[in-house]
Amino acid sequence: MINKLTSNEVHEKVRRRYAEISSSIKDRFKYPTGKEGLLMLGYDLPVAGTIPEGIIGSFCGVGNPFSLGPVQTGDIVLDIGCGGGFDVVVANHFTGNEGRVYGIDLVPEMAEKATRSIMSMELSNCEIQVAASEALPFDDDSFDVIISNGAIYLSPLKAKSLSEVYRTLKPGGHFQFADVVLNDDLPEKVTACFDGWSG
Ligand SMILES: C[S@@+](CC[C@H](N)C(=O)[O-])C[C@H]1O[C@@H](n2cnc3c(N)ncnc32)[C@H](O)[C@@H]1O
Repeated sequence: MINKLTSNEVHEKVRRRYAEISSSIKDRFKYPTGKEGLLMLGYDLPVAGTIPEGIIGSFCGVGNPFSLGPVQTGDIVLDIGCGGGFDVVVANHFTGNEGRVYGIDLVPEMAEKATRSIMSMELSNCEIQVAASEALPFDDDSFDVIISNGAIYLSPLKAKSLSEVYRTLKPGGHFQFADVVLNDDLPEKVTACFDGWSG
């Protein structure tokens, strides 16, 4: 009989893997990351050009949430699974100082990295917290836009994560996310193994 991973086990494995990735993403992904990744995904190059190399180098998103709709001046934005903070900095570029950008990440080392990123750019209207997508530490109707880039697929409780998005979005708000999707169900022997399940 194959034992399924529990939610806690998945979180623990994500914590271990992304704590390591927070020190270096080199050779950790099967797709382009850093500058190569964001060039391939069509990020706004004049915006990316204002961001320090170290923050660009931490980018490991799978798509471009900003290609799905606008982030406006003054918007309140949340980035779920913010990693090293690249998309938080990009969102801040669009909201300006009139807006506010929050990033959350399950992994303390990643949240520390994102905090260092926003501090290095002196972005006082950005804030990073350690939190899980399944239990967002925000009131109902908080955000104009929620973005996420390559994080929801790592959640063991995706329906709960999506209901948290719905709860914390303002009426009429937008959820713009890029993620990994399955075309079909995976065999149990793959879902029971973290590498198969997350890779
Ligand atoms: C592939 S990385 C993408 C990071 C970032 N969005 C980017 O584009 O560079 C996935 C991120 O999601 C975070 N993560 C995974 N599961 C999570 C969860 N359940 N709640 C919050 N963050 C999570 C990981 O710690 C990691 O930083």
